[in-house]
Amino acid sequence: MTKLLLRALAGETLPTPPIWMMRQAGRYLPEYRATRAKAGDFLSLCYNPELATEVTLQPIRRYGFDAAILFADILLLPQALGADLWFVTGEGPRLSTITGPDGMRGMKGKDDIHDHLAPVYETVRTLSQELPDETTLIGFAGAPWTVATYMIAGRGTPDQGPAHALREGDPETFGALIDLLTTSTIEYLSMQIEAGAEVVKLFDSWAGSLKGDAFQRFALEPAKRIITELKARHPGIPVIAFPREAGDGYVGFAKATGADCLAVDNSVSAPWAAEHLQPDSCVQGNLASRHMVTGGQDLIDETRAIVEAFRGGPHIFNLGHGITPDADPENVALMIETVRSA
Ligand code: CP3
Repeated sequence: MTKLLLRALAGETLPTPPIWMMRQAGRYLPEYRATRAKAGDFLSLCYNPELATEVTLQPIRRYGFDAAILFADILLLPQALGADLWFVTGEGPRLSTITGPDGMRGMKGKDDIHDHLAPVYETVRTLSQELPDETTLIGFAGAPWTVATYMIAGRGTPDQGPAHALREGDPETFGALIDLLTTSTIEYLSMQIEAGAEVVKLFDSWAGSLKGDAFQRFALEPAKRIITELKARHPGIPVIAFPREAGDGYVGFAKATGADCLAVDNSVSAPWAAEHLQPDSCVQGNLASRHMVTGGQDLIDETRAIVEAFRGGPHIFNLGHGITPDADPENVALMIETVRSA
């Protein structure tokens, strides 16, 4: 096995960690903005295999990252299940809402998503042929809780209030939605793997707003179900879990769910994560995205400190969350150079 990312995921401690970046294909890159303009809008780009392949490859060509992440979005699955979805420029996603049992009646079943998602599988197939030999292809999906927060509220929300209200006020509808998302995510990721994804990542961006028992039931349990089934169907395919802002909830999460790697945001320190998480699994993270905007000596110092903190175990270098549109592409090059010479 020569690919660095796969070696780290298999538990190997490497002299230089492999590196990639959340949202590495994105608006901070002029070539991304040009291809997106050609596609017309964001969703047309996601469903155009030729152009989605192109934007996935752009950061690989420019920087030589160790991994490419499929260009798509976590909200394509709800759309495949029957939700309306559109993006308001400068604001973000909008969806039809699920406020009670009626909302669930309009949803399709877990096995009825593949026609809609066929262009995504086509993108994965093309990428697995076109990527350089040393680059690992990562597929992904949103975790059920995070996807549910958008399907319930119809948009992003600062505190996931509507989703918590449905969870508490109509546990039956909420439970049915989590169940449908769990089973359809298994089918969706399985198809990505069959099309050529070598690793899959589960994004639970809003896991941090689930506490105590709710975290166990709606972040940890669904991740465990998804990972257990994927491992049964596709032995050897590594999974990265990202229960963002889980705090203490990160501890034991990889062991309990079967994840091979735990991605961490930058609300936890690298030395803390090295001590409490790295004994259980590979850790991915966790430079604050703002360094991609501000650059300079702070970027260099913080990057070195993170590499140093994780040196004793398997580590994948990444940001703590996605790179933002106002980032300077030069700072990305500086981060990579710093990691590879540290
Ligand atoms: O990381 C990558 O480069 C792969 C592609 C990817 C995108 N979204 C492309 C995208 C991935 C892995 C995602 C995941 C995603 N999408 C998450 C989980 C990770 C996270 O960021 O917390 C979430 C919550 C979404 C939903 C979503 N998509 C929102 C809230 C937004 C609007 C905010 C924004 O950044 O504009 C998007 C749009 C989106 N998804 C963009 C990209 C490149 C920007 C769209 C554009 O070009 O205008």
